[in-house]
Amino acid sequence: MRTLTTERLILPPWDPRFEEDFCRLGADPRVSRYLGDGRPWKPERTVARHGEILAHWREHGFGWRGILLREPGDEALIGVAALSRLSKPLPGVDEPAIEIGWWVDPRHWGKGIATEAAAVIRDEAFTDHGAARLVARYQPANHASGNIMRKIGMRHHDDTTGPYGEAVRLYVLERSDWVTATHS
Ligand SMILES: CC(C)(COP(=O)(O)OP(=O)(O)OC[C@H]1O[C@@H](n2cnc3c(N)ncnc32)[C@H](O)[C@@H]1OP(=O)(O)O)[C@@H](O)C(=O)NCCC(=O)NCCS
Repeated sequence: MRTLTTERLILPPWDPRFEEDFCRLGADPRVSRYLGDGRPWKPERTVARHGEILAHWREHGFGWRGILLREPGDEALIGVAALSRLSKPLPGVDEPAIEIGWWVDPRHWGKGIATEAAAVIRDEAFTDHGAARLVARYQPANHASGNIMRKIGMRHHDDTTGPYGEAVRLYVLERSDWVTATHS
């Protein structure tokens, strides 16, 4: 369970101490706007997800990471950088696939933080966890998230519907395309 670092960020494995900051992020309507039904997450929901994230690490040895700024004494969670095994296979996507995702505290939007974190966990998924492909899903109005997918090399794969009937765009990055991009 190693901590990843980038030029500006520290990405530790999920930690019990993140619960309170995670609840604050989930309750922010700017964060929840394009997640599922778009409603802010009540604390019970965020606490339940927090437990699932810790369980995912125990089962698979990887998972969601906190995003912290690389500044001495600053321990606040300013976002999440997420890798997850799919709970069920996606139609038209062969296993083994790993889903990638991100949230950033709105106080830090627009500084490239999500893109910086996404690039390093993309490489982690292929290098350390044997992913054959990465998948990501976003609601079409969430332009920032779609931009990140394209910037880390993902391609549009399908348009589907999520559990609340919401439109969802599915992006995929095949290992072979990642290898070509990183070795050229
Ligand atoms: C999506 C999210 C993580 C982006 O975080 P961020 O750190 O601001 O992203 P970055 O600064 O790396 O920017 C990524 C791209 O989105 C664009 N972008 C950033 N904020 C934007 C906004 N409010 N509206 C439109 N585009 C935006 C940036 O311009 C950038 O694209 P570009 O470099 O091609 O111009 C953040 O908006 C967020 O946490 N949203 C709520 C949670 C969420 O929706 N997660 C994704 C679920 S699929």
